[in-house]
Formats: sequence, C-alpha cells, structure tokens
Amino acid sequence: MPSLSRVLVGFGLFVSASSLVVASSVLDDRAHEHWGIPRNAHFPLHARGTNKDGSMPTYKNPNAAIEDRIADLLPRMTIEEKVAQLIQGDIGGWMNMTDPLDDTLVFNATGLVDSLATKAGSIWAGYLTPWNKLVFAIQTAQDYLMHNTTLGIPALVDSEGLHGFTDNGTTWPSPLGLAASWNTDLLQKAAASISDEAEGLGITHIFAPVLDLSRELRWGRVEENYGEDPFLTGEMGHAYVSGIQSGTRRNVSHTATARMAATCKHFAAFGSPEGGLNIAPVHGGERELRTMYLPPFKRACVDALTIMTAYSSYDGIPAIANSHLQVDILRNEWGYKHYVTADAGSVDMLYDLHFVAPDRATSAKIVVENISGEMGGGTYTFLTLPDSVRNGTVDVKYVDDTVATILRIKFMMGLFENPYPYADYNATLRTSATRALLHQMEREQIVLLENRNGTLPLSKTSPLRLALIGPQADRVSFGDYVFFNASHNGISPLAGLRRLLANDSSVELAYAEGCELWSDDRGGFADAVDAARGADVAVVVVGTWSLDQTLLWTPGTNATTGEHVDLSDLGLVGAQRALVQAVKGTGKPTVVVFVSGKPLAEPWIQENADAVVQQFYPGELGGLALAEVLFGDANPSGKLPVSFPRDVGTTPIFYNYLKAARPLDPGRITDNGTLAFGHQYVLDSPAPLWGFGHGLSYTTFNYTGLTLSKSTIGTNEDFDVTVTVHNTGKVDGKEVVQVYMTDVISSTVTPVQQLVGFAKVDVKAGGSETVRIPVKSEQLAVWTVNNKWAVEPGAFIIKVGNALETFANATLIVA
Ligand SMILES: *[C@@H]1O[C@H](CO)[C@@H](O)[C@H](O)[C@H]1NC(C)=O
Ligand SMILES: *[C@@H]1O[C@H](CO)[C@@H](O)[C@H](O)[C@H]1NC(C)=O
Ligand SMILES: *[C@@H]1O[C@H](CO)[C@@H](O)[C@H](O)[C@H]1NC(C)=O
Ligand SMILES: *[C@@H]1O[C@H](CO)[C@@H](O)[C@H](O)[C@H]1NC(C)=O
Ligand SMILES: *[C@@H]1O[C@H](CO)[C@@H](O)[C@H](O)[C@H]1NC(C)=O
Ligand SMILES: *[C@@H]1O[C@H](CO)[C@@H](O)[C@H](O)[C@H]1NC(C)=O
Ligand SMILES: *[C@@H]1O[C@H](CO)[C@@H](O)[C@H](O)[C@H]1NC(C)=O
Ligand SMILES: *[C@@H]1O[C@H](CO)[C@@H](O)[C@H](O)[C@H]1NC(C)=O
Ligand SMILES: *[C@@H]1O[C@H](CO)[C@@H](O)[C@H](O)[C@H]1NC(C)=O
Ligand SMILES: *[C@@H]1O[C@H](CO)[C@@H](O)[C@H](O)[C@H]1NC(C)=O
Ligand SMILES: *[C@@H]1O[C@H](CO)[C@@H](O)[C@H](O)[C@H]1NC(C)=O
Ligand SMILES: *[C@@H]1O[C@H](CO)[C@@H](O)[C@H](O)[C@H]1NC(C)=O
Repeated sequence: MPSLSRVLVGFGLFVSASSLVVASSVLDDRAHEHWGIPRNAHFPLHARGTNKDGSMPTYKNPNAAIEDRIADLLPRMTIEEKVAQLIQGDIGGWMNMTDPLDDTLVFNATGLVDSLATKAGSIWAGYLTPWNKLVFAIQTAQDYLMHNTTLGIPALVDSEGLHGFTDNGTTWPSPLGLAASWNTDLLQKAAASISDEAEGLGITHIFAPVLDLSRELRWGRVEENYGEDPFLTGEMGHAYVSGIQSGTRRNVSHTATARMAATCKHFAAFGSPEGGLNIAPVHGGERELRTMYLPPFKRACVDALTIMTAYSSYDGIPAIANSHLQVDILRNEWGYKHYVTADAGSVDMLYDLHFVAPDRATSAKIVVENISGEMGGGTYTFLTLPDSVRNGTVDVKYVDDTVATILRIKFMMGLFENPYPYADYNATLRTSATRALLHQMEREQIVLLENRNGTLPLSKTSPLRLALIGPQADRVSFGDYVFFNASHNGISPLAGLRRLLANDSSVELAYAEGCELWSDDRGGFADAVDAARGADVAVVVVGTWSLDQTLLWTPGTNATTGEHVDLSDLGLVGAQRALVQAVKGTGKPTVVVFVSGKPLAEPWIQENADAVVQQFYPGELGGLALAEVLFGDANPSGKLPVSFPRDVGTTPIFYNYLKAARPLDPGRITDNGTLAFGHQYVLDSPAPLWGFGHGLSYTTFNYTGLTLSKSTIGTNEDFDVTVTVHNTGKVDGKEVVQVYMTDVISSTVTPVQQLVGFAKVDVKAGGSETVRIPVKSEQLAVWTVNNKWAVEPGAFIIKVGNALETFANATLIVA
C-alpha cells in the first residue's frame, strides 16, 4: 500500500501498515478531504480495491460494461493516484538501461515503488535491450501494479513503431516509402506484424502513425509522413491504425476490442513549420485547418486509442493549449473518448518556449483542462496538479475526465485481465512470414520516375558489365525512428545486387563509391569514371541520409534529414551531383537512384539521366528489392506521395494548391549559360519535376469506360467511379488507379484538384481489370464562409490520372 502510507506520512503522522485499519477510522474525515475520495462510499478507505459488502468491485469484473468499470474505479482513486495515471513513467526507474547489451535480470525495488507511485499511467519502454530483459522489466512492473498496489491498475507500456518495432523488430520502409506503395491492404498487414512483434514482449502502446502533411519540404521530418495529400495520408493512416489495433490480446475479457494502442500524431498542423524549422509556428486559419490538416486525423484517428498533440503553435496558439482544437473539435465534434498525450517535454514549452504560461503549474493546468496527459522528457509538470486541485486552482473534473480516457483504453485492451508479456514472444518476432510481407512492400514502394529508351530493366540474360557507383550504393539508409545500429539488419544496394546476381555469371559488377555523402571531395571521381567507362551501363546511387535514434541525436554526427535536421536546399549535398555528371559524361547510359527521405530538387538529373529511380528510405530488404527492380525481377508500381520541386525557391510544390496559386511563365538558364527570362519565375518554373501520383512501370496501361454510378446526385449522395484499366504491355504489372475531383465553382476558393479515391490493382500482361472506387458525398464538401461543411450544387470534374496527367474524365452534377 505504498500510496496510502505516503499520504499518511504527508499528514505528519507515522502509521505502520499494520495499524492502518485503526488509523484510518480516526483519519477518515481529513483523509477523504485530502485524497478527494467520497464519504460513505461502498468501499473501505483502507482497502479501496474491495467492497464493504464483500462483493467483487465492478471495475474488477471482466464481464461488466467498460463505462461502469470506469465509473466504479474513479471514485476509489486518490488525487495522487489519478495524477499518476496521467504521467508517463519509464522502465529506467527500476532497471539499469544504460548498456544496450546488458541482460542482467535485476530490478531496483525502491526505484520501482517510488517511480510507479507518481508515474503509472504508461511506462516508456522504447529501449534497445535484449528481449528477455525487456520482458523482465515489464513483467516486474505489471506484477507490482496488479498485486502490490491498492487498486491494481496496470500500465500502458509504450514504444516507437513508425516503421518497425524499435527494439530490434523488423525495420520497414520509412513512412514516406510505405505511402509510395499506395497499398493500404499491404500497409495494414505491415502494421499488424509490427504489433505482433511488440505485443508478445509486453508492449501495449505504439507511438505511430504520423499524419502530418509533407507540404513544407525543408522540414526534417518529411520522411515520417505519408506525403503531401490529406486523403492519401488519411487512408494510409487508417490502414496503419487498423493493423496496429485490430484483434485482442490473449486471455482478456470479451469486452476487449483492441490488442494495442496506436497513437496518431502530431495533432495538429505540425508539418508546415515556418521556414521549415522544426517546432516553429505554423500559419493558417480555420479553413486550412479544416480542409487540409484535420481530414487525415478525422479519417484515421477517431478509433485510434491515443492521439499525441503537436509541439508547435497554429495561428498563434500552441496545439496543446488550443481548446478549440483539443476540446471543441476533437472531443465535442468528433466525440473522441480516448487518451490524448502531450509530446515529450512539450508541457514545459508553454512556459519556456511559447511563453503563454508563467510557470509549470499553470502549464499543467492548461494541458489537463484540454483533457490531455503528460509524457516524460520534461520536468513532470503534472506533479503540481494534486496541490492545484487542493487549493482550488484546477477543477478536479478535468483530472477525472482525463483519467477516464486512459482507464477506458486500458479496459478496451483487457489490461486489467492480462497486462503481461507472453512466454512465447519469440514466436512472433522477425518471422519468415513478416519477411515475405516486407519483401513485397520493398518492391512496391520503389518509384520509377524516368525510363528513357527502355534503359531499364537491365538484362541478366545477355552479357552485361554494370558499374555501381555512389555514396548510397554500399550503405543502408533507414529513416529516423529506428534503433541504434538497426542498419546492421539491412541489405545495401551493393549487397542486394550481389545476392541477386550470385548465380548469373553473365553480369559483371564493378563498384566505386565516387564520393562521400558529406563531402565535396572529388578524389574518388577518377575511379568512378573508370568503372563507368569499362561498363555497358552505370547505376549511380545518391541521396540524403538520416541516422538511427541514438546517432541522430548524438552531437557531432551529421545527417541531412530526420527529426531536428532541417534543410535550406533540396539539392544533393556535396559532390554528388557532380559525380552523376561525371559518370554521364562518359556517354554510358546512366541510371540514377535516389535513396532519400524527401524529394530532391535535381532538374539536371531529371533532364539528363537515362533512367531515374526513387527509393524513399527502405527497410531491411531495400537493397535486394532495388536490385530486383533494376533487373526486372520486380516491376515497379510505386507512385509519388509527394511532388518534386525544381528548386527549394519554387516551393511549396504540392499538387492540390488553391485556384489562382500558380501563375506559370517560366524562365531558365540554358545549358550553354544563356539566360531565358520569364516571370514565374524569372529563371525557373513553379511546375514540378515530377508530380504527385507519378510513377512508371515496365508495362503500359490505358483506361477505358470511365462511368459514374449516377451523373447527377443530390447534396448528400455518395457515388462510385468505375473504370477499366488495360495492361497493354508485355509484363504483368500493378497500377494505382487514382481518382481526382475539381469543384468547378465554389463559394470559397478550393483546390484545383483533390485526390478522392484510389485502388491498386494487379493486371496481367494483355489483361484488364474493372475497378469501382467509392466516393463519399462529404468528400465534395466546401468549408464555407459560415464555417460549416456544405456540398454546393454545381459541376464537379471527375478525373482518372495523376496530378499532371488525365487518362479519362467525366462531369458530375450535384443538384
Ligand atoms: C548502470 O550500468 C552501467 C553500464 O553497465 C554502469 O556503468 C552503471 O554504474 C550502472 N548504474 C547503476 C546505478 O548501477
Ligand atoms: C534505486 O532507486 C532509488 C530510488 O529511485 C535510488 O535512490 C537508488 O540510487 C537506486 N539504486 C540503484 C542501485 O540504482
Ligand atoms: C509485492 O508483494 C509481494 C507479496 O506481498 C512481496 O513479496 C513483494 O516483495 C512485493 N513487491 C514489491 C516490489 O514490493
Ligand atoms: C536482433 O535480433 C537478431 C535475431 O534474433 C539478432 O541476431 C541480432 O543480434 C539482434 N540485434 C540487436 C541489435 O539486438
Ligand atoms: C496552488 O498550487 C499550485 C501548485 O503547487 C501553485 O503553483 C499555486 O500557486 C497554488 N495557488 C494558490 C492560490 O495557492
Ligand atoms: C491464457 O490462459 C491459459 C489457460 O488459463 C493459460 O494456459 C495461458 O498461459 C494463458 N496465456 C497467457 C498469455 O496469459
Ligand atoms: C528467445 O530466443 C532467443 C534467441 O534465439 C533465446 O536466447 C531465448 O532463450 C528465447 N527466449 C524464450 C523465452 O524462449
Ligand atoms: C534514345 O532514343 C532517341 C530516339 O530514338 C535517340 O535520339 C537517343 O539518342 C536515344 N538516347 C540514348 C541515350 O540512347
Ligand atoms: C559525418 O558522419 C560520418 C558518420 O558518422 C563520419 O564518418 C564523417 O566523418 C562525418 N563527416 C563530417 C564532415 O562530420
Ligand atoms: C544557347 O541555348 C539556347 C537554347 O537552347 C539557344 O537558343 C541559343 O542559341 C544558344 N546560344 C548559344 C550562344 O549557343
Ligand atoms: C486500350 O487497350 C485496349 C486493350 O489493348 C484496347 O482495346 C483499347 O483500344 C485501348 N484504348 C485506348 C484508348 O488506347
Ligand atoms: C477531359 O480530358 C480531356 C483530355 O485530356 C480534356 O481535353 C478535357 O478538357 C477534359 N475535360 C474536362 C472537363 O476536364
């Protein structure tokens, strides 16, 4: 009964555990007041986890309704216990997590008791540590919470999993790469496998997915998002949340509905910081919030068990202090009943970064009044709440409302019945089934951007000398949010090619690094040029780079993308472009592969390379999948989830800009240096190098028979778009059928076009598939001048194609 003794000591009385029964009757009145526990309750003060009449407390009854269990449990809790539910603890409180290789199974009992007394809602366990030690740490804490505390409330146990469970789980492509697959079914399976890996170890809460939009490309975290478009982001996010949460844990109540809590982040409008600088303010109004930033959350997160708020301010209000966003919209309009947490250390930012609060206590008050809990990484400002409630500064109802949200999700996961790791956790970690899924995803996320004269695929059947060149060729570049040394589990492009070609003596492979990623040194060019000269074709692998969660934050390391790594230039860093130019200068067909965490602004490469392949940071099998795509063992089917600008100065480049946003009168600097003047822009163009939705295949597709289920619909009517896609080439291929909508005349300015549906289909060579894509009425809605959604009568153009191309179109009338 640690919390009870602590409070009694707080009264200035020493009461031993054995005399509690006697002491409690004396202290009842003061204790009730001090703890905020109702008088004349049906449970005794000294044993709040029981009922006076000996019956089973409702909250312990697995068959009781979840809302009844919450209502039964809340009044039994002291204010300290309530606040402890709102603070994230850390397994480092009782385990020594310093050495990632250490697997000593001992815990610090004092540390365990002390830390869980005040921080017990969730427990951070995102360490790289041997699995048996992680299991021991979690088992120890849950055992203690279940059996040694008065009420026996289990904790959530949290870790990262943006693209793989981060304690040596399988690393998947970065989210931008996952989005390039445009394959929601596959993503849902990927997310389910991430849950499989984490669940057995006792993790119950994964901090993913990220639903920020990649509309400000300088920002370092572009790779963590599903691209620039709210619809694609919402669909991918929804698939991810479903994959993470679907199913139930073992041995739980029949009322349990989720096996893991996903976390949608960062709520909201975090992805377009001023200047592209991490955490900087985001500008915009209600319309931009409603039409761009919120739709992915509305689609993906209403059923997500947790949401994490953004660090930034929007229109002058820090997200965590924004009651319009957190309460009016999320709680009242959307009816969200689950747990919201502030991001690491962000409650402190209200008084030490945004300066909208004078001190810690006020910051905590603001956040809890917006029905949110506190993550670690700061000063645990929520520890001020018990006093603030006692002295009347904070109304306990906000604490109660927030505690109810976290208890609710614990009941929804069945944690009160079974919060423990599984003995056979090994069986779901790094399995061959997961690897097969990963392999498919790696192939499907690669985007073929250019392929002049059928340069690709390369042939294995006739003799071929291949020069593999470039600083990304013999390197594994995962995105951020992977564990220390995760790259050791990955296959580089060089290793992938060697593996693929192991039995093909007809291909001769030469490798030259050419230059380092981070330097201007051209000392390696001569070898690279020699390799290209001696080859039939050169493949140059260049790009950006990120680092794992340890190295990314270690002073003195260098990266060009990732959290807190923002760019002022979207071109290749160092000598990389010059390397491509030197190789191309040999006259040999030159294939350029970008391995990157965001679009690269490289117009020379777009114009001059014989083929260009985009691989957003891959997962563990990325190098192999790349080799398979280069040789045609896999037919590329990825499409861009984000547009490519010609230069950072021509951004923003997103395709769904508002009407009138992009006057086009381009100028250019010609190859011979002559200046051809234009106006938009004087010496460049606001048109993208490659647009949203673009991606080539080794086969060709055409479209016929576009029809709408009805050509005229009412303002509340959904409709379907049907179209037949033919594979008119010689190999099987997957095509992403994309449906866009334009509201021809609207009362407020709307985008020139918006993605409203898509489907990825497998079409055999010479075959065809008819696809039916549903579109909901609300997807046609405008956010009007009256701050309401309305579908306005009039004409809508429905197009099948991608942002820059029309393959078929039709007109829909809303009457
Ligand atoms: C934790 O482990 C590290 C490395 O194994 C060791 O240096 C350190 O002394 C340990 N800390 C404690 C408090 O035992
Ligand atoms: C155990 O935890 C207590 C309380 O946090 C701390 O004071 C003590 O130093 C820890 N002991 C070790 C060996 O780490
Ligand atoms: C939990 O309670 C058990 C049984 O009373 C006891 O043996 C154990 O030491 C307690 N654990 C902690 C960490 O206090
Ligand atoms: C990850 O797991 C694999 C397979 O169990 C093991 O070989 C490897 O050493 C582990 N890596 C780390 C960093 O723990
Ligand atoms: C109430 O308690 C909080 C937290 O300790 C403190 O910051 C605040 O000043 C107190 N207010 C009053 C009116 O005592
Ligand atoms: C589930 O319950 C069964 C039967 O009581 C037991 O054998 C098994 O170990 C339990 N599994 C877990 C994961 O707790
Ligand atoms: C899990 O697998 C590892 C490595 O194969 C092994 O050392 C460990 O004993 C296994 N753990 C359990 C609980 O089976
Ligand atoms: C590609 O084909 C065009 C037209 O057939 C030809 O002019 C051009 O030289 C070819 N380019 C290469 C690199 O072979
Ligand atoms: C950049 O980081 C890499 C990897 O840590 C290191 O090898 C290299 O020396 C660094 N270069 C610079 C210029 O800091
Ligand atoms: C330079 O290139 C431009 C466009 O390609 C051409 O019109 C112009 O004549 C060239 N000028 C010279 C001096 O070659
Ligand atoms: C598309 O391909 C099909 C099958 O090859 C063909 O019958 C049809 O004429 C093509 N349509 C267009 C518009 O090219
Ligand atoms: C439909 O597409 C055709 C061919 O691209 C184009 O000429 C026409 O303007 C489009 N119609 C509408 C209404 O967009």
